Amino acid sequence: MRSPAIFQRLVIFAFVGTLLVALTVYQRDRLAAGVGNVVDTVKTTAATAKENLPAMPFTDNGGKTPPKDKYISVCLAVKDQRLDLPEFLRHHYYNMGVGHFFIMDDGTNPPLSEMTEEELTIPRDAVEFHYFRPDEHVRWMQYTMYNTCNKIAKNHTSVNTTWMAFIDADEFIDAPGEQTLREILEDFDRIEAIGGVAPNWRVHTSGGHLTRQPSVISAYTECIYDDPAHNGNGTNNRHIKSIVKIKHMIQPRDPHSFILTPGHITVGENGDKVDSFLRAPITRDKLAIHHYALKSKGEFEEKMNRGSGMSNHKGWDAWNLYEDMPHEQCQEMLRWANT
Ligand SMILES: *[C@@H]1O[C@H](CO)[C@@H](O)[C@H](O)[C@H]1NC(C)=O
Ligand SMILES: *[C@@H]1O[C@H](CO)[C@@H](O)[C@H](O)[C@H]1NC(C)=O
Ligand SMILES: *[C@@H]1O[C@H](CO)[C@@H](O)[C@H](O)[C@H]1NC(C)=O
Repeated sequence: MRSPAIFQRLVIFAFVGTLLVALTVYQRDRLAAGVGNVVDTVKTTAATAKENLPAMPFTDNGGKTPPKDKYISVCLAVKDQRLDLPEFLRHHYYNMGVGHFFIMDDGTNPPLSEMTEEELTIPRDAVEFHYFRPDEHVRWMQYTMYNTCNKIAKNHTSVNTTWMAFIDADEFIDAPGEQTLREILEDFDRIEAIGGVAPNWRVHTSGGHLTRQPSVISAYTECIYDDPAHNGNGTNNRHIKSIVKIKHMIQPRDPHSFILTPGHITVGENGDKVDSFLRAPITRDKLAIHHYALKSKGEFEEKMNRGSGMSNHKGWDAWNLYEDMPHEQCQEMLRWANT
């Protein structure tokens, strides 16, 4: 019988064709999602889940007081960064007083929600996971996740949060001045017109490290310059990230800045109005975002190899950009080392 055989072949043909189209669309959307990151295409990452966990340097909280409530929270869009989470969570929970983490898990396998409290190194009830299956991955995934955080936080029955920081797992907030992060935000909270606060980046280089270090805070103490002679024109430290007053948030404008309800503005640490994803003059007397953009060469290579050929190129551009830019020592985060 000839025709059934032909029919069978046609069916197989159609099936394979559909599969190829689906894969292409999936890849395209993944790439498109990356376009949203203004500079840090560098960022998506990480370790395969099967990788052995290194000895955890954080074993107790050193007598530090946990945050008393969830006044400050973090919205974290993350994929495959299981090994990076503990230090990130610990720093923000114990050192910055962040009381709640909305972790938007972009299809990590196994899901990050399977991390134990011991692995997270902070109380489990300070962490809330939302898992997006790989087939739910869309263009501009980061925006979808940020909007999800906004929606959840606005309509939460158990979590009462006022300020939400939209940062990545390689970005660490610091309050280097007299005031704590909470005190700074409480001051801004009293001014009705303020709906967002925008600290400047401090981008860290690889510092010549070749392999993963047990603590990024301790290991990476070299940064790109601020280019004060040209008002920051020649440096990425002009970039900001946003801590948004959730009741005034509408949606992200880009991964750095946010559209707020009418009559509300985003300000820098001195109360200066910030209109875009850049802020200059660059100051970090009260607030900073330490951006560990590169980490070690080994981790960066791994990250690039996992990406597609196209994003590889862009990724290495970012590596070269930051490595070739004038550098300076930046030791200020060391005061949080081993905590
Ligand atoms: C808010 O939450 C309640 C209960 O969890 C739910 O019924 C309601 O639809 C939610 N509203 C929005 C706008 O998501
Ligand atoms: C939420 O927290 C804010 C400020 O911390 C407080 O003023 C408000 O009363 C709280 N709302 C609820 C429902 O607990
Ligand atoms: C900033 O840098 C760009 C590109 O390097 C240059 O074209 C521009 O003139 C500079 N602007 C200022 C204000 O220095």
